[in-house]
Amino acid sequence: MKDHELQELLSRMTLEEKAGQLVQLDGACFGTRGITTGPQEALGITQETVDMAGSTLNVLGADTVRRIQENYLKRSRLGIPLLFMADIIYGYKTIFPIPLGLGCTWDPELIGRDYAFIGRESAADGAMVTFAPMLDLVRDARWGRCMESTGEDPLLNSRYGEAMVKGLQGDMVPGKNIASCIKHYAAYGAVEAGREYNTVDMSEMRLRQDYLPAYKAGVDAGCRMVMSSFNVLNGIPATANKHLMVDILRDEWGFDGTVITDFASIYELIMHGVAADEKEAALMAFRAQTDVDMQTGCYANNLADLVREGKIAEADLDRACMRVLKLKNELGLFEDPYYQADALKAQEIINDPAGKEAAVQTALEACVLLKNNGVLPLAKTGVRIALIGPYADTGDMLGLWAIHADRSHSVTLRQAFEQKLSPENFRCCTGCKTLDDPAELGDFGNIPVVTKNPDEETVRQWEKEAIEAAEWADVIVLAMGEHTLQTGEGGSRTDITLPAPQKELIRKLAAYHKPMVLVLFNGRPMALSDVEPYTDALLEAWFPGTYGALAVTDLLFGDANPSGRLSVSMPYTTGQVPVYYSHGRTGRPCAPGQRSRFTSRYLDAPNEPLYPFGYGLGYHKAVYGETKPDKTCMKSGETLTVSVSVRNDGDREGCETVQLYLHDCAAAVARPVKELKDFRRIVLKPGEEKTVQFTIDEEMLKYVHADCSYAAEAGTFEVMTGPDSERLSCAVFEYIQ
Ligand code: BGC
Repeated sequence: MKDHELQELLSRMTLEEKAGQLVQLDGACFGTRGITTGPQEALGITQETVDMAGSTLNVLGADTVRRIQENYLKRSRLGIPLLFMADIIYGYKTIFPIPLGLGCTWDPELIGRDYAFIGRESAADGAMVTFAPMLDLVRDARWGRCMESTGEDPLLNSRYGEAMVKGLQGDMVPGKNIASCIKHYAAYGAVEAGREYNTVDMSEMRLRQDYLPAYKAGVDAGCRMVMSSFNVLNGIPATANKHLMVDILRDEWGFDGTVITDFASIYELIMHGVAADEKEAALMAFRAQTDVDMQTGCYANNLADLVREGKIAEADLDRACMRVLKLKNELGLFEDPYYQADALKAQEIINDPAGKEAAVQTALEACVLLKNNGVLPLAKTGVRIALIGPYADTGDMLGLWAIHADRSHSVTLRQAFEQKLSPENFRCCTGCKTLDDPAELGDFGNIPVVTKNPDEETVRQWEKEAIEAAEWADVIVLAMGEHTLQTGEGGSRTDITLPAPQKELIRKLAAYHKPMVLVLFNGRPMALSDVEPYTDALLEAWFPGTYGALAVTDLLFGDANPSGRLSVSMPYTTGQVPVYYSHGRTGRPCAPGQRSRFTSRYLDAPNEPLYPFGYGLGYHKAVYGETKPDKTCMKSGETLTVSVSVRNDGDREGCETVQLYLHDCAAAVARPVKELKDFRRIVLKPGEEKTVQFTIDEEMLKYVHADCSYAAEAGTFEVMTGPDSERLSCAVFEYIQ
């Protein structure tokens, strides 16, 4: 449709029809099943509302989409098609590693290609918009939704955000690309005490310095939609927060796409105690230019009246409605309301080996080798290997948001090990329960995960098998981790260690003094200091996806060399949380190992995490040279080049992620001790040396001041390079204005 045709369409719509475009309802309203993540209160939704609703969520499948659209259009007075949106977070049918794992690849280009595949796979099956990527910065490992984030760093998250948005949207070709809705705007990752749906209170300086950059990167990359977050930010829920939604998002960043609420978050304005009833809630959210109401009756039942009462200008309703119409038009729905959804094509893509290859490659890059006393890589012959643990033989390595996954494609670790080992050298057993009481975890809709433990006799039998296998084996590989439902939405924990039955089994097996390799499947940076001493090697696999087991096995047996680097700090203990590398300075800093009382430190734990941001090992041996700036002074308008050499002294090819950090030594406000400014992945053959050059420009020296201005100041800067955020070599330069 041409612009004037859209205008003409708008001019024919009633107030109710305009409001209808701003309503999103789930599959149940359209006679199909979907996953719903919010409370199912009576919505006050009539059939008329359903007939006028502009969009639906988590209804997919080419044939279903076609059927629902066809029926919908039959009842639609003006023939405006329904928009199909869904949570396609890190894979549709083919599941990639969870975003926390994607974050550890330090390879945004690869992730962009993955998201292009994800877009293609889901668009063929009827998806038009996805609620992804989630661009919340996470520093509190208690929060279950750490799994949905690429990590703790603004720069890294921004690079991924940009790549994901561009990958999903491509050229916005119907049936091939999907529109991206970034979320959860804003600062949802900072919920107090890591408790889900909790409040957020932080300075505007901190908000702009750390939390906003990734959303801004998503907007700059052209995302068509933004989702408001559940949380209160500095007293006002995001959904009704004019400062966030209008001053920053619309006016400062120039976003003119659609803003949608998170699930029922307009209604939740009442629960937050800022609106007396649904009508007031609707008015507040609408005035903040929140366009679409997900899954409540607040807009459907009130917007038209609010216009009639003069509380909302009709022009504002028109603007919001037009944003939705424009998106539908851009997706070509007025020409093809089915978005070229095609069940056969969808099936072909799901079975396309390219998807499998991409998922394996990404899982290879996402796993992080945290420790290796030399036991890895494992030999394929002449060694008896026992694979033990709740993750030894399950396809459920997909993480919580794999709600549309084709689980029939999932490969288990046992199957992957069997491809490498002859049967006489391999045993596999479950060993123990994942946790004591999975029933306590609640329910997350239709994802098929184990929520019941077997009877005690079976559990005793499992342990007996594990002990026999340990006695028999030369090496024990433990496949352990968190239950899927211990992470993700509603998955906050106060104890972020390995669940008790698994720790107990590790202690029992340690008595056999066999080398132990622990492979971890989990959705947050866990506190590992209580199990790490029992292990000879630790591989962090996160939830690695449909084909993740193949990647993990290739890494364990040395068919691939680990290259993942942590995009989050791994705490030493839960009590340290939040622990992150770019923390502020203190007047009484404590050097590692120092024990003086009057310094900023814990009495019972180090300040540092167990494994720092940026850290990861490989099977090669990288040796980093000194940080060498090309001059000692950088004048305003100039750039400075920093070089660092890296040599591979090992006997196999390896990939290094060379990292660049900066620190402003004396600024107008207390600055973080260091901040990541750039990074480069390089591949080194045995004996090879490469010099990596980074360019420092003035933009990198700028920071958010107390009055929220963004500028650089003359003075001394430390520039650091190295393999992670702790092992850094430092040089200084003066910046002169
Ligand atoms: C989640 C969102 C999700 C939405 C729709 C909410 O509960 O917070 O991330 O996109 O549900 O399913």
